[in-house]
Amino acid sequence: MEPLRSIPPPGRPGPPEAESPRAALELARLLRDAGYASPRIQERLGTGDELLARSPELPSYLRRLGDADELAVLLRLLLLGVPVDRARVDGHVGGELRGRLESANFLVHDGEVVHGAARLVPHDELLIASDHAAAAETHADHVPGVHRPSVALAHLTVRRGGERALDLCAGNGIQAILLAAHAEHVVATDVNERALAYTRLNAALNGVDNVETRAGSFFEPLDGERFDLVVANPPYVVSPETAYLFRDGGMRGDGVSELVVRGIPQMLAPGAFACVLIAWALDPDDPAERPRTWLEGSGCDAFLLHTSTDDPIETATLWNRELVDRPEAYADALDRWLAYYRELGIERLGYACLVLRRRLESGEAAAAGWVEALQLPRQALRPAGRHVARLFETHDHLAGDAAGQALLRRRLRVADEAVVSRDSRFHAGRWHAQAPTIRLEAGLPFTAELDPPTARLLAELDGSRTLEEALAGAVVEGDDTRAEGLDLARRMLEIGFLELADEDAP
Ligand SMILES: C[S@@+](CC[C@H](N)C(=O)[O-])C[C@H]1O[C@@H](n2cnc3c(N)ncnc32)[C@H](O)[C@@H]1O
Repeated sequence: MEPLRSIPPPGRPGPPEAESPRAALELARLLRDAGYASPRIQERLGTGDELLARSPELPSYLRRLGDADELAVLLRLLLLGVPVDRARVDGHVGGELRGRLESANFLVHDGEVVHGAARLVPHDELLIASDHAAAAETHADHVPGVHRPSVALAHLTVRRGGERALDLCAGNGIQAILLAAHAEHVVATDVNERALAYTRLNAALNGVDNVETRAGSFFEPLDGERFDLVVANPPYVVSPETAYLFRDGGMRGDGVSELVVRGIPQMLAPGAFACVLIAWALDPDDPAERPRTWLEGSGCDAFLLHTSTDDPIETATLWNRELVDRPEAYADALDRWLAYYRELGIERLGYACLVLRRRLESGEAAAAGWVEALQLPRQALRPAGRHVARLFETHDHLAGDAAGQALLRRRLRVADEAVVSRDSRFHAGRWHAQAPTIRLEAGLPFTAELDPPTARLLAELDGSRTLEEALAGAVVEGDDTRAEGLDLARRMLEIGFLELADEDAP
């Protein structure tokens, strides 16, 4: 009978380890040659979804997959965490690939069955190994795969070339590996040695040789060093537990986010960026208040890219999903988490990617950094690092022009990524045109409805006129409406619907 859920290997195998960087690369090549890559896997499992999290669809996947060919056997072992008869492994998995998997300890033998020692998931061009999800329930040092927050962080990171980069709380090493193409040397830290073993394995599988791993808590392994780029996905969840290192930082309330946000500015070289995922106790009257306080006197400018606001039940549900098939434990956990939030007086939790940029100045000028909060759309994120860098550049450009007098003299145009469209709805026997919308097809997925005056103004902004001329052309008359038009143009410029079209544009 087919298993209903993943079955962990007996004992607890350590993370696989290749004999040499060359052996790891060769193993990755052989896996890809066997079809172990996203498009083939999605086709075989009949899913268009990303292969990110533990799947409740296992029974359906197994029936679709069968176990009578090489890729099916590999996927059972390494993606789905399901044991396979030894005879099937020997019969289907090519000798060279089998040998490489064996010598890197990817296979665990248990009598007549074989288990995959780790989970292996393709993400675009990368192969990322982690612990199988089924093992999570019992081990605090469980190393998860790449999850939605990791992908969001990867998409929002401003990756500028530089000598030294830091991945704080590296886990399986995905961020460090992505940084490695943009820095000469990457330092990856984690308190969990098991995570660092995966970081090394994943670096090797992906042909990355400039990642150095260092064990220790948060900033401990960093001795006053400065970096040109810092990325951090710390255990930011506000939780009453200490069950998992990857989730529970073991500090009260939003203490982990505060510690990391207060510590990172000292790690940054002048002009360097940092991108860090955070959670905080959010006050609906001033949502950005706590992160802003943490940044006072930091010497950094910052965009708080606010991804979501959850109530306590949403947060407790999201972070205890692994218990859904154990209803009593699940209900107990929800009660524990909700009691904790009540005790701390937390009614809302904010989640964001905080992007910091160390000021070039020092002293008082540096201390006067600004913090802007920007609510990100709910849509799935996509690569947006360049857009995030542009937010800072545009902000710099507009600084010192609060009244917009200089902006009025600038030529603006609609950004290349912006698309304007108008939907129609069929209702009561006829078509009704809806208000036009503008959306960005690349970068941050902003979208907005266009009212008639805004649509007229946009039509005028083709890069040939100054904003002042465009406002006149769009028949925005009177001081108030002109001020509104100016304010509108400024906001559209800030988030990227518009861009400066003259020579000294950023
Ligand atoms: C959410 S995971 C991040 C994984 C990975 N960087 C990513 O983006 O997918 C958080 C990581 O923080 C590590 N961690 C937990 N407590 C820590 C501490 N005190 N110091 C350093 N790392 C810690 C965990 O071991 C875990 O690997």
